[in-house]
Amino acid sequence: MTTHHDTHGQIGYEQAENPDLALARLLELDGEVLAPYLAELTGLLAALASPTPTRILDLGSGPGTGSLALARQFPSAQVTAVDISAQMLHRLRERARAQGITGRLSTLEADIDGSWAEIGARGPYDLIWAASFLHHVSDPARTLARAFAQLRPGGLLAVTEMDFFPRYLPEDPGVGRPGLEARLHAATNTQPDHEWTDQLQKAGFSVEKRPFEIRLDHAQAGPSVNPYAHGFLTKLHSHATGLLDTDDLAAWDILLDPSQPNSVARRDDLRVHTTRTTWIARRP
Ligand SMILES: C[S@@+](CC[C@H](N)C(=O)[O-])C[C@H]1O[C@@H](n2cnc3c(N)ncnc32)[C@H](O)[C@@H]1O
Repeated sequence: MTTHHDTHGQIGYEQAENPDLALARLLELDGEVLAPYLAELTGLLAALASPTPTRILDLGSGPGTGSLALARQFPSAQVTAVDISAQMLHRLRERARAQGITGRLSTLEADIDGSWAEIGARGPYDLIWAASFLHHVSDPARTLARAFAQLRPGGLLAVTEMDFFPRYLPEDPGVGRPGLEARLHAATNTQPDHEWTDQLQKAGFSVEKRPFEIRLDHAQAGPSVNPYAHGFLTKLHSHATGLLDTDDLAAWDILLDPSQPNSVARRDDLRVHTTRTTWIARRP
């Protein structure tokens, strides 16, 4: 399959050949649909941070959902976005330009498991953000110790994880047997929940754990919910071969085919239900 760009430079419903680009687009859609949650979380950090952050670090920034939300929340802050993927950072710079956020957002292509010399040269930081990222590093305890060292006393570290993958479809989507989406999740979501409280405390932080439950109906989620659900479910489905029975796989083939009238790409009955947990950790 080929990558298809529409007039807005976005990836369409065909699968991208480049997995980084496909993931970037999915993360961008996640940020668009979940914008109210991001605004709530960055608003909470603004209320807890004192003084107002002027230097912010986004670890594993991807295409910059967090960096851009933080740059909007803290209009006088310098934001450094670090990622190992040049493609993710390219998307971030493009999006920053499109949103008029230039001059105070810089990108750093680096392996966070490697040297922190360049990250340190831009610090110390008042706020460090790590969303859907900490479970990617080879040694989370070392990463937390390094983040602690890069924060000024009183500074905040916000670590977020998605503990329950988004659900989009009604119980009976009208294709296949009811409960199709629950069975896809049960078959593919086998990761244990992430729990960072102990490791944060061992690194020296004082920690508050905040759960966020997100429920949006189709109207609240907006038109991006269709490509968002389609991208996410396509990704899960790609891991499901051999894990679901043939009837379920055939039903997913229909639901994920954008040319089908009841495809996830076209339906007007999608909603979003998901949860995120943020550990808000302060360096004493
Ligand atoms: C699931 S994405 C999360 C992106 C973003 N924080 C968000 O919430 O949308 C994880 C990101 O971590 C980056 N990453 C993974 N391992 C890394 C490493 N060792 N050093 C730097 N970045 C890394 C990936 O390239 C990817 O962009």
